[in-house]
Amino acid sequence: MRGIVFTAFLTFLDERRDFGVSNRVLNESEADLETSAFTSVNHYPSRDLKALLASATRILDEPFSEMVKEFGEFLFDHLMYRLSMHVENYDTWQSMLINVEDTIHESIHKLEPKRRIPVALKQVEDANTALTLHYKSPRGMADLAEGLIMGCLKHYSAEQAVTIVRFDQSADGTSSIFKMTYEAT
Ligand code: HEM
Repeated sequence: MRGIVFTAFLTFLDERRDFGVSNRVLNESEADLETSAFTSVNHYPSRDLKALLASATRILDEPFSEMVKEFGEFLFDHLMYRLSMHVENYDTWQSMLINVEDTIHESIHKLEPKRRIPVALKQVEDANTALTLHYKSPRGMADLAEGLIMGCLKHYSAEQAVTIVRFDQSADGTSSIFKMTYEAT
């Protein structure tokens, strides 16, 4: 399970871009990665992910934040499939999202105490939305969080009906508020 986000990104590149592009990205990011043994990608530290993302966006000449969001959607399905034992059958996208921090991430932490997912995803009282969440993490992955939320909406076939508006609280992606509202019909 260690490094699941990292390996999911390599799979994303091969499946959603060009087969084999993950090798090129790995090779070209070698100098920036903390671990250099490409044969054991499962053991890459997760902080290497940012170096890999930066290298992929450079090689594929794509905007960083758009690629990370698209990867977030892909990652949601990947996590649901690979780690389904940590996810109950939530009836709605809201109940799933409000359980990410205290239930889903926490159950992963219990199983592997050394793994800490430093993501706070707190519900904020807001009578004007269907759900408002505050994402905070020292890893600064607000774009990834947005993609994961979009992946969750798609999972519940709610992406057409719900609009996400993001308010960044910091410039480094460590704190963002997501307001989700139903589209007026
Ligand atoms: C929409 C729902 C979700 C959101 C918004 C979310 C948020 C995040 C974010 C933003 C990260 C990157 C780390 C960081 O920012 O510090 C992350 C990591 C992770 N999440 Fe979630 N997550 C969601 C659903 C899930 C689900 C369904 C699972 C598993 C069943 C899961 C398991 C994990 C794991 C294993 C990591 C990697 C931790 C590591 O390697 O250090 N998440 N999550």
